[in-house]
Amino acid sequence: MKKLFIRTYGCQMNVYDSARMAEVLAPLGYAETSAPDDADMVILNTCHIREHAAEKVFSELGRLRKLKVKRAGAMVIAVADCVAQAEGEEILVRAPYVDIVLGPQTYHRLPEMVARASRAGGRVLDTEFPAEPKFDHLAAPRANGPAAFLSVQEGCDKFCTFCVVPYTRGAEYSRPAKAILDEAAGLVAQGVRELTLLGQNVNAYHGEGPDGGIWGLGRLIRELAERQADLLAIRYTTSHPGDLDDELIAAHRDVPRLMPFLHLPVQSGSDRILAAMNRRHTANDYRRLVDRLRAARPDLALSSDFIVGFPGETDEDFQATLALIANVGFAQAYSFKYSARPGTPAATMAGQVPETLREERLAALQAVITAQALDFNRACVGSRFAVLLDRPGRRPGQLQGRSPYMQSVFVEAPAEFLGTMQTLRVTRAHVNSLAAVIDGGLS
Ligand code: 5AD
Ligand code: SF4
Repeated sequence: MKKLFIRTYGCQMNVYDSARMAEVLAPLGYAETSAPDDADMVILNTCHIREHAAEKVFSELGRLRKLKVKRAGAMVIAVADCVAQAEGEEILVRAPYVDIVLGPQTYHRLPEMVARASRAGGRVLDTEFPAEPKFDHLAAPRANGPAAFLSVQEGCDKFCTFCVVPYTRGAEYSRPAKAILDEAAGLVAQGVRELTLLGQNVNAYHGEGPDGGIWGLGRLIRELAERQADLLAIRYTTSHPGDLDDELIAAHRDVPRLMPFLHLPVQSGSDRILAAMNRRHTANDYRRLVDRLRAARPDLALSSDFIVGFPGETDEDFQATLALIANVGFAQAYSFKYSARPGTPAATMAGQVPETLREERLAALQAVITAQALDFNRACVGSRFAVLLDRPGRRPGQLQGRSPYMQSVFVEAPAEFLGTMQTLRVTRAHVNSLAAVIDGGLS
């Protein structure tokens, strides 16, 4: 048996990719290990979205170099996914001890790459976008617990001016619905009860249906719920406001197992900045969309991404973002300082905002979001809901899961409840989590 260590950075799509990479390498005798020290192969599965994320990879590579020297070179080092796609050649030059550099669309070829790298002096760079999608070559995934990710769509054609995704992940691609339904059936047969459908722009999903027509995400979710009675919770992420169609809104109304939570990034509340970002929607478009969603599913909890300090952002623009946050009310949100990414249009725009101002705005925005999250969580105290306890909690004797609204919920519970759905009553609220007790009283 050879030991494989994978370190995953970035989004859930990378988490999904890492699991698939481990499966592709298993037939070669690789089993996963929890530390790089004694690994025969190390994969860094990387994120390029902000400068900080990309930098981490090079510092981690420095540490791996030392481990490889200690093992007299007996360690295959691979750099995968988005940094590899964007900076593949540079990695090979800057880190001569790296054996394999592979993009997000070629990991089904890992066995050949390992074989080539094992030959004397063989180094591999494979950052192609093959015509045939990798999914056609991957075996059905193994479930790793009762909650699973399923990648349904990849890439993005939106070209927001700050974003590297259209370059690193490539053009938008939707997997055929049958392949997704089969993968879901396989996961449910292995005990999966909660499924998150993944895509960089997941609600742009437009896959070929088994009936020959084109299915949108709303249709896909409906069919999935219908076919998989044992699937207790369905989620999806990440969405673009411009692709949220009537059918998907109707699915939120009609499919109770589609959880009442939506991560719908708005990025900014200023129309001027939204236009410069090429977001293709205004702040009021977003407000109206939220109204329609809440009309369909009144308890829908919303989450968003925000960027502060985009080039040209004035104080007035920033105030417009705060106003939008106040109007909409978010259950949670992620916020980032704008990070100039080489090759994207915004990186060379006039009016780059100084770091100190970006930091100030980030702190102000995060204070508002934190207050909203705490309000939302407090309003849940006393509620009862069914939660799949899919992992151990922080402390011994605790288990945790996600509420329908995506909050982390911690509960004292016997270990045999792991992997089961339990009705919980919320007792306490924190900014990032809820505490609850098992409540037997609700069926
Ligand atoms: N700078 C800061 N944040 C960014 N994001 C994407 N690109 C950048 C960038 N250049 C954020 C967006 C996106 C999230 C995944 O990361 O908010 O929705
Ligand atoms: Fe990037 Fe999302 Fe915009 Fe696509 S829609 S370019 S992934 S921010």
